[in-house]
Amino acid sequence: MTDTLTFAPFAPAHLEGALRLSQEAGWPHRMEDWRLVQRISRGVVVLDGPKVVGTALATPFGTVAMANMIIVDAAMRGRGLGRRLMDRMMAGVDVPEWRLVATEDGLPLYEKLGFAATGQILQHQGVIGTCAMPEDVVAAEPADLPAILTLDRQATGADRTGLLALLLAEGEIAVIRDTSGLAGFAALRDFGRGAVVGPVIARDAQQAQRLLSFFFARRAGGFLRVDTTAAAGLAPWLTAQGLAPVGGGIAMQRGGASATSPAAASPSATVFALAAQALG
Ligand SMILES: CC(C)(COP(=O)(O)OP(=O)(O)OC[C@H]1O[C@@H](n2cnc3c(N)ncnc32)[C@H](O)[C@@H]1OP(=O)(O)O)[C@@H](O)C(=O)NCCC(=O)NCCS
Repeated sequence: MTDTLTFAPFAPAHLEGALRLSQEAGWPHRMEDWRLVQRISRGVVVLDGPKVVGTALATPFGTVAMANMIIVDAAMRGRGLGRRLMDRMMAGVDVPEWRLVATEDGLPLYEKLGFAATGQILQHQGVIGTCAMPEDVVAAEPADLPAILTLDRQATGADRTGLLALLLAEGEIAVIRDTSGLAGFAALRDFGRGAVVGPVIARDAQQAQRLLSFFFARRAGGFLRVDTTAAAGLAPWLTAQGLAPVGGGIAMQRGGASATSPAAASPSATVFALAAQALG
């Protein structure tokens, strides 16, 4: 390791270098995708002179934080930089519970840091086929935000106010109502090669499919991505809609009440798709 390496807080000036790292790692993120995460996160970079050679961000969601965008330049892996980035990034955010979605590369590092697997994340993507527009799904209104946040908190145990307000303002959110009020919601935003649908929070799989169908019907022929959980059971249906399984990751947790899947947090609101692997 050279002695020109320095650690610094992640700043907007590091976004260009961070984007290069994620592209070299084969990740689809565009500059806008990095910016969205950076706006609601704080983190650390390691620099070799002026060059960004490692990143690690933390997105605080109330008493839970997501660790994400953890990348070390391929030429510098296996020298302890990932570990040092994680230690510094986690020291900057004081929460009782950490979560992340691990790639194969990251798994050994996170296990050493005390993270335990809680479930499997399945990434589906492709060109969406034709899909009927469900009748009971409508676009959210700004006044729906408090109920959306309540449902999201029930499903995830996290307070994702900042993220969901951003998605409502800059993406699109669709909702489904029943006699008790807001029963579920789904968000869509541009991401990577096309757009991502997520999070999807609903009472059951049928509602989740109708929420997804709302965006599928509007984006027929477009490139879409959905990150679902294995526990949600949507994978065969997503594949039938034209979104093939292309990989995924391992959901992990450190600290918190119990190392069970957040999807099991509440019977009335379940996570059927993630906002992103980075954001849960
Ligand atoms: C994941 C990644 C950031 C790790 O960075 P790194 O600098 O190589 O990690 P470190 O050298 O700090 O290794 C951390 C620990 O994991 C261990 N480790 C790393 N890779 C390992 C492997 N393939 N098998 C077993 N152990 C491994 C190291 O021995 C080290 O343990 P130690 O601290 O007890 O010595 C890097 O591989 C990377 O950028 N991968 C591509 C992007 C990615 O997938 N990021 C993860 C997103 S969740």
